[in-house]
Amino acid sequence: MTARLIDGKRIAADIIDNISTQVQARVAQGFRPPGLAVVLVGHDPASEIYVRNKVEACRKAGIKSVSHRLSETTDGALMALIDSLNADPEIDGILVQLPLPAPLKADPLIERIRPDKDVDGFHPYNVGRLAVRRPLLRPCTPAGVMTLLQHTGRDLHGQHAVVVGASNHVGRPMGLELLLAGATVTVCHRFTKHLQAHIARADIVVAAAGKPHLVKGEWIQEGAIAIDIGMNRLPDGHLVGDIEFAVAKERAEWITPVPGGVGPMTVATLLLNTLAAASVHDGLRQSAQG
Ligand code: GUN
Repeated sequence: MTARLIDGKRIAADIIDNISTQVQARVAQGFRPPGLAVVLVGHDPASEIYVRNKVEACRKAGIKSVSHRLSETTDGALMALIDSLNADPEIDGILVQLPLPAPLKADPLIERIRPDKDVDGFHPYNVGRLAVRRPLLRPCTPAGVMTLLQHTGRDLHGQHAVVVGASNHVGRPMGLELLLAGATVTVCHRFTKHLQAHIARADIVVAAAGKPHLVKGEWIQEGAIAIDIGMNRLPDGHLVGDIEFAVAKERAEWITPVPGGVGPMTVATLLLNTLAAASVHDGLRQSAQG
């Protein structure tokens, strides 16, 4: 079998077009455009690219983005910045691009963001809401993957999904999303034995380990769906995923490319979260006035 490509770039572009229409409708009704604050500390080249993509996507969607670029800072100054953004009525979403340069600490900062402005979905409150099946703002990459899975038309109930990677921001919430959708979920991680055997039994493989070609193409079950969240820059400059694409695509029914698969969906979901946060804030303001 040769896999069909899941075209994340096109699906994300359609979502952003749709958001743009909704933002125009908001503005026509007298609401302000949604506002996203983007905080970038340091000069990590990958983070610079991610932030540029997010700001550009906001521009396309009509979302107002406000960038806070800091070359050097302290935990205390970042906390104060978060406090001011939490209190700013023009800001619906706050995104702190990760990783932060050492010795800055990300976890206390994420917990300082008001959960209703946590458009990354990283705050323990939002992860907890997902865990108890009452999601509000969902972590963007896993939610974006769920949108890609919907596009395959596959009924996820009872499918065996194997997630490779158990990070707080991607692997763990990915497992929660798949569980919520009715899949039977195995989460593999650095201590997992017999990774190949787990993957060989997967109807859906979601690789989020950040290790180039960790998942060999021949491990993929015939007819499986292969979703690659990995983005690994090789020494020769090439960008490759966690799944050995060339071989996997001859076995899978559906597969995501790298780049152009999951990456654009993370950005589109961030904008969806920002629009949803803005609607919540409109409602809060109206009920405060009424
Ligand atoms: N760094 C890599 N991916 C992400 C993301 O989705 N959000 C944030 N805040 N930082 C990241």
